[in-house]
Amino acid sequence: MKKVFVTGGAGFIGSHIVDHLAEKGARVTVYDNFSAGKNIFLKSALATRRVKIVKGDVLNLKRMTAAMRGHDAVFHFAANADVRGGTKDTRVDLEQNTIATHRVLEAMRAARAKKLVFASSAVVYGEPQRFPTPEEYAGIQTSVYGASKLAGEAMIQAYGNYFGIRSWSFRFVSWIGERYTHGVVYDFVKKLRKNGKVLPVLGDGRQRKSYLYVKDGVEGIFRAITRGRGLSQIYNLGHRESMGVDRLARIVASEMDLHGVRIRHSGGVRGWVGDSPVVRLSTRRMSALGWSAQTKIEVGIRRTVRYLMETPEALAR
Ligand SMILES: NC(=O)c1ccc[n+]([C@@H]2O[C@H](COP(=O)([O-])OP(=O)(O)OC[C@H]3O[C@@H](n4cnc5c(N)ncnc54)[C@H](O)[C@@H]3O)[C@@H](O)[C@H]2O)c1
Repeated sequence: MKKVFVTGGAGFIGSHIVDHLAEKGARVTVYDNFSAGKNIFLKSALATRRVKIVKGDVLNLKRMTAAMRGHDAVFHFAANADVRGGTKDTRVDLEQNTIATHRVLEAMRAARAKKLVFASSAVVYGEPQRFPTPEEYAGIQTSVYGASKLAGEAMIQAYGNYFGIRSWSFRFVSWIGERYTHGVVYDFVKKLRKNGKVLPVLGDGRQRKSYLYVKDGVEGIFRAITRGRGLSQIYNLGHRESMGVDRLARIVASEMDLHGVRIRHSGGVRGWVGDSPVVRLSTRRMSALGWSAQTKIEVGIRRTVRYLMETPEALAR
């Protein structure tokens, strides 16, 4: 990959991808509408002088195609990354995830880019009955976010067959780490800064999930790209560990130096409609390529909390 186009490259995960690519000597174009992305996340990448930014929307096919010409690979990481909003507005995930992915594929066809890396999600398994959940598991969809990501994967495979676009789709558990700007750790830090005595937690506190530290995740992606074989590849990117939400809350509070915090559950097995109460993915495919997450979940959570406490821009949303 010599010239790489990264949609969502100013976001949490995308900016780490950009750092890695620039460090390895690739020329990178970040294509982002900055709805959630931040310039500060690209500071170190821009200093390499191998990175350029084009402000644009993935739904704008003309602009994106023009910006994409001359690139051989695309990382499609722009999306509505808010997994919880589906019931409020059922169109957002369809437009920002499924249609957006179709636009990226059309732009790639016109620009003759032949490699695509796609950020999918563990949410495509819905509420699985099998743990750790393998890639072959066919879940029933429980959220429009999950459905929109699965539709994106399907479209990518079809374009692979039609036009020879080689792809790597990664089903991520929740990522944590530096530049993290949304998700459970973020919510807990924000709530605890307001009230350090009582922490409201969605659900019954028994949800149990895996979390992936960002540097491990980026390494996994590049491991699969260099070692994986096949036209349309799918990989779970997770962690062999998982953690209950109450324990996670206690770690966040302790890292914030808060003691005796009372947890108040909202009740119900799910945090919200479409939430998967248990997320634990089989990482057998990634292990076969010699990768596994190295950072313990507790360590990743503590680093994330420290980052948020030290970076007011990340908390300002
Ligand atoms: N963070 C996670 O734990 C997680 C888990 C599973 C999947 N994912 C997926 O990984 C990808 C990156 O997630 P993230 O956590 O970095 O999210 P993020 O919100 O930090 O990054 C998304 C980026 O895309 C940009 N963007 C959004 N809509 C756009 C549009 N229409 N046109 C151009 N740019 C647009 C935003 O400005 C932002 O910079 C997303 O596709 C997300 O669905 C993330």
